[in-house]
Amino acid sequence: MECTFTQEAPETLAAECLVVAVHENRELSGAALALDKILNGEIAAIVQRGDIEGKLGQTLTLIQPAGRPIMRVILVGAGVAGQLKATQFHELVARGAQVASDLHVQSFASYLAEVAVADRSAAWRLEHAVIATYEALYRFDRLKTRGVRGPGPVGCLLGLRELARDTAQEALATGQATANAMTLARNLANLPGNMCTPSYLADEAHTLAGRHGLTIKVLEEADMEALGMGALLAVARGTHEPAKLIILEYQGRTGLAPIVLVGKGVTFDSGGISLKPPANMDEMKFDMSGAATVLATVQAVAELKLPLNLVALIPTTENMPGGSAIKPGDVVTSMSGQTIEILNTDAEGRLILCDALTYAERYKPAAVVDLATLTGACVIALGGHAAGLMSNNEALGDELRKAGDTAADRAWPLPLWEDYQKQLDSNFADMANVGGREAGTITAACFLSRFTKAYPWAHLDIAGVAYKTGKEKGSSGRPVPLLIEFLRGRARST
Ligand code: BES
Ligand code: MN
Ligand code: ZN
Repeated sequence: MECTFTQEAPETLAAECLVVAVHENRELSGAALALDKILNGEIAAIVQRGDIEGKLGQTLTLIQPAGRPIMRVILVGAGVAGQLKATQFHELVARGAQVASDLHVQSFASYLAEVAVADRSAAWRLEHAVIATYEALYRFDRLKTRGVRGPGPVGCLLGLRELARDTAQEALATGQATANAMTLARNLANLPGNMCTPSYLADEAHTLAGRHGLTIKVLEEADMEALGMGALLAVARGTHEPAKLIILEYQGRTGLAPIVLVGKGVTFDSGGISLKPPANMDEMKFDMSGAATVLATVQAVAELKLPLNLVALIPTTENMPGGSAIKPGDVVTSMSGQTIEILNTDAEGRLILCDALTYAERYKPAAVVDLATLTGACVIALGGHAAGLMSNNEALGDELRKAGDTAADRAWPLPLWEDYQKQLDSNFADMANVGGREAGTITAACFLSRFTKAYPWAHLDIAGVAYKTGKEKGSSGRPVPLLIEFLRGRARST
């Protein structure tokens, strides 16, 4: 599918299908009003009759209204005019795209990007209309041989009469790069564990590097041994799949300290010897969502040619209970030299991340951000609405929170106070890998904080936002938009 932009008015456009907004309190949007004029007041009459109230997400489809040449008009409720929030704008645009797609049209023209959003510019609305449209039309059918839905729309024309052409082009390009990246992240995360293995992720990284001229290095288990990565290797002992540490480097600027992104790449988390209960264990194929997010973000940065330097570190393995698997009580030595008593083999994410975080020191980074589906406790705390955000640097934390807010892909801070650290005390090693039931998301971050003292660091626990469960089970592509927004901000300011 392709999203394009037009300044043309809806009433003169020759479109198969037009999408316009109606507001609560019987108010038509600008585009609906313009269309209403050539439809002899039909839209106004429908709204007056209350056939559509204009509540957010309501829709009504008119087929060849009043015998006019326009074949289809989709009315989408946009709530009270002037009160739409950023995340609601995404819902609005997604609804319009879904209904158009259900009509099996080849293409549709949407004027929903004209609907005002509190504290957001017209350029933001265009960029995010692109993102929300791709998000809504995404499908993952490649493993089905039967019952595959027909192809979706191939074209989406976004109408926004108030926006200058060059500003629009830039917003389209950014939106497109973000949407492409989200699609990549979703495709990787939706692949099952028997297909998306650590080796598969390494192959994907090679493809990405080849396409965009990135530097790539993949550390094998022998290399990790030589580096003393005893924590990462401890997790890898339980599976026959060889673990990897994928290193991708993007250079958009010379002589600038890089930003390092570290993504948890557990391609399946059974829990290991501390085996997880069976219900929903399939969802642990999503435990490489941090890795997928990082690969996708690198792709977007390369597509947008951002003037900064970026390093991606992806420690990747399965967590399985094989005969050589680590056992509760085992003590291992991390690359940092610190020893770890493994009290629960299901707290594996922090074990693979800590060695990657120590490895990150060699880049003398301006900042390190790790992304990980790290704790179930984070899903309990914040649900699917926000990633958990913890940092050893207030400015960096604020920067990420603001980026998430701007991108409608939010993160919310949790405290990383010293007081929580003692929960990790061990009688037998420098620390335990779990800190008990209380504040599980924070103690996981406390564990990581012991490996990140050399640089400004932030941790995003994405267990709640990276994928949906239930009927809509599947990867969300989050927090790719947050990261791209963050990096665009860095590119502007350094
Ligand atoms: N991958 C899981 C975290 C997770 C749980 C993500 C549910 C998404 C949904 C992680 O490796 C894990 O198992 N964490 C444990 C930590 C515990 C043993 C301290 C958890 O959250 O139960
Ligand atoms: Mn686990
Ligand atoms: Zn895990």
